[in-house]
Amino acid sequence: MCGIVGYVGKQKASAILLEGLKRLEYRGYDSAGLAVEHDHAFEVVKKVGRVNNLVAETAHHRLAGTTGISHTRWATHGGVTDANAHPHVSSDGKFALVHNGVIENYSGMKKFLLGQGYKFLSETDTEALVNLIAYHYKKEVDRPDSSRFLESVRKTLRHVEGTYGIVVLCTEHPNELVAARKGSPLILGIGDGEFLLASDVSAIISRTQNVVYLKDGEIVDVTPKNFTITTLDQADVAPVIDRVTWTLEDAEMGTFAHFMEKEIFEQPLALENGMRGRFSEDQSTANFGGLNLTPADFRLIDRIYFCACGTAWHACLVAEHLIERFARVPVEVDYASEFRYRNVPLRPNSLFFVISQSGETIDTLAALREAKRKGHVTAAICNVVGSTIARESDGGIYQHAGPEIGVASTKAFTSQILIASMFALYVARMRDMSFSDGVQYVQALKQAPDLVRKVLEQAPHIKEIAKRYAHHHDFLFLGRLSLFPIALEGALKLKEISYIHAEGYPAAEMKHGPIALISENCPTVFFAPKGEIFQKVVSSIQEIKARRGKTIVITTEGSEFPAGLTDEIITIPDCHEAVLPIVAAVPVQLLSYYIAVELGRDVDKPRNLAKSVTVE
Ligand code: AGP
Repeated sequence: MCGIVGYVGKQKASAILLEGLKRLEYRGYDSAGLAVEHDHAFEVVKKVGRVNNLVAETAHHRLAGTTGISHTRWATHGGVTDANAHPHVSSDGKFALVHNGVIENYSGMKKFLLGQGYKFLSETDTEALVNLIAYHYKKEVDRPDSSRFLESVRKTLRHVEGTYGIVVLCTEHPNELVAARKGSPLILGIGDGEFLLASDVSAIISRTQNVVYLKDGEIVDVTPKNFTITTLDQADVAPVIDRVTWTLEDAEMGTFAHFMEKEIFEQPLALENGMRGRFSEDQSTANFGGLNLTPADFRLIDRIYFCACGTAWHACLVAEHLIERFARVPVEVDYASEFRYRNVPLRPNSLFFVISQSGETIDTLAALREAKRKGHVTAAICNVVGSTIARESDGGIYQHAGPEIGVASTKAFTSQILIASMFALYVARMRDMSFSDGVQYVQALKQAPDLVRKVLEQAPHIKEIAKRYAHHHDFLFLGRLSLFPIALEGALKLKEISYIHAEGYPAAEMKHGPIALISENCPTVFFAPKGEIFQKVVSSIQEIKARRGKTIVITTEGSEFPAGLTDEIITIPDCHEAVLPIVAAVPVQLLSYYIAVELGRDVDKPRNLAKSVTVE
């Protein structure tokens, strides 16, 4: 939510900031802005709408400085206006600031500052922060010049309730940036004679792969030559420099029309990367280096809780199915946003798992912290390396799916299911699953990339179906067992990128209410794979047909349906239960994608959304 880029070095800052903002635009796209310091003054440019609007506007400005900050906004406090766009400048003109997060006590601050004569031009919480820095700076007049800027920011942050990732500029301290984080991600990129600050790696990957992941409560003071990290309590922090493993190409669209399309087609590779090096030598189970739990620990665990939001929550539901089915360990799944306030009585000997692509989702992080506070062993499935959730959990499994830029999650989802399925195998093999069943399971997992490739070959067929159905205003998605969560995911994908109303239900629940929606105007996407309840699903399809509903049926090879029952058929390869939800997810991703394209939607940046939800 909101993207930040800061630069200090020898190059013209504005070009680097704009390039970074374009790469961060998926974090928020209500407005964008930048401030560059030159000759002890700021040049500030802000524009409502996409980064391209800002780029056009900057053409009319000199923007000569080599130090600057920039921001792409997902609005929280205050409407989408130029005035509310970041950066915000203190009313004495000395400080400019970009902010990702929410300052909860901003109204008290604002009242105080208004009393002190500070002026406010926007409706944002951020403006209170930048003016409070100016207030403290004025008060710190006796402090040595070298530390006055940094200490004013530090003092200000001690008063803040809420979350922030900030980068601050000061006219009296040219070529210096002060940045800090609490609850919103911020990384420092160490370049060649330059430093960058950004909300995530994609913004700076073209300039450096060496990064420091800042932690909550840390402040970094950066000049073109050096940086120092300290805490709010002024303790020194020894920086840990990590090397990012992916490259610029991974974060670019290449020949695809959208990131979402690219990421759908990258799924075979993401699955291969998620499995690489993670099977035992005898090929009968999975291995996870980072879980930090011994087999003895696992034998004691008698319940697993899973928490997440959105698509990752759907992955948790699949995890529940697979773990209970194969490992026979009871699993409970909760929305992280509900869990954090519900005071759930967690049982002893429970493992608390969270799933998050970004590793920054605030509700998921809060749920993790709550479980930790209660003394539970925690683990996380995350895609973004070095993210807060990955760092704060006791153990974890990285997805290695590569950067996911499209706001609608696709490859991260199937990769989360893959990891969950491998985890189910891992636990199952420590319990009752036999060696030969384990070998079979591993073989099935290894086939997943090729099975997904086969589904992807059907993209043209699915595109044709999408064209025929794009004009409908309501859809139902129905599935059973491990495909019920895929029905939920199909409905979510369609809603978020097409703005078409869609609902996911367990197929047999349809009779208990949703069947009232059925008419020729509300098509149903049915998951009907071969298996023990195939006939039951066929009966549900018949009930839809009896009410003149149109049916798009996703089934496995070799299934037969009574004549006239299916309006459209998408066939996926017959496969092991361990990978069925992965394979079945792909057609609904493609269907949603092509419907959104047909409707001319902004697929990668759907309205009102942002990729990573770092505010409540
Ligand atoms: C997925 O398409 C959505 N954009 C959203 O539901 C997302 O999955 C959710 O916000 C959780 O994000 P996370 O995996 O980064 O925690």
